[in-house]
Amino acid sequence: MINDIVVPISDRHDEKESFFKIKLNKDKQLDFEEIFGNKRPVTMEIGVGKGEFIAMYSRFHPERNFIGIELKDKRIVTTLKKLDPIKNSNVRILKLFVDKDIKNYVKLSSIDEIIVYHPDPWPKTRHHKHRLFQHHFIDALNLILKIGGYIKISTDDPNYAKWIVNLFGQREDFETMYDEGYTMIAPDDHFRTFFDDIKSKEGFEPYFMFYKKSVGDISDVPQCIKTYP
Ligand SMILES: C[S@@+](CC[C@H](N)C(=O)[O-])C[C@H]1O[C@@H](n2cnc3c(N)ncnc32)[C@H](O)[C@@H]1O
Repeated sequence: MINDIVVPISDRHDEKESFFKIKLNKDKQLDFEEIFGNKRPVTMEIGVGKGEFIAMYSRFHPERNFIGIELKDKRIVTTLKKLDPIKNSNVRILKLFVDKDIKNYVKLSSIDEIIVYHPDPWPKTRHHKHRLFQHHFIDALNLILKIGGYIKISTDDPNYAKWIVNLFGQREDFETMYDEGYTMIAPDDHFRTFFDDIKSKEGFEPYFMFYKKSVGDISDVPQCIKTYP
């Protein structure tokens, strides 16, 4: 694991915004080749928070493109402060509340890797319906991911970890990369974030889950959906 090497950068916000921020045109799906001007593999991070992870991970992987999605304006401003137009030229940021409709905005099989670190855990039972990870959301991720593509998730909430392991365990379209369904050892290319640190101080360490889209053909997806108990 690589730790605490975020270099704070600050330049003019308006210049950063015009370089990094992209807008959603609901009549046209995101075209990554057009956005980045190349055909490199695409990683999508959902909920970039304060931007530590995307700022560093994208520098570590200059051979990939990164689309970071975040719903809160304030968090986007904080993220932009950490991005450098030269060192992070492979990053774009999109303001969006992500749910299963993501499949309408992103082309089929166009993403190589989806990262969701510390999604809101909604711990109360009556709020579980608000959790991002539900079968219909995973169906949508399946559609936008390439075959062999990955979903990487972390949560410091043991019950949400169990929920996620259970959901993916019911599916035939994803296989876990960890025998027990999760690990508490951070991946080698993880960059710790503000949320990792505050949760760690409270005594909670993240569970990491790692899934590979294993269906052989996109037309298999409806059959996977039918297998839910
Ligand atoms: C707990 S923070 C984690 C941030 C970051 N992933 C990390 O590990 O430090 C969750 C972030 O996801 C954003 N978020 C939550 N639900 C979202 C959604 N449905 N779509 C986009 N962003 C979302 C929140 O605004 C927040 O910034």
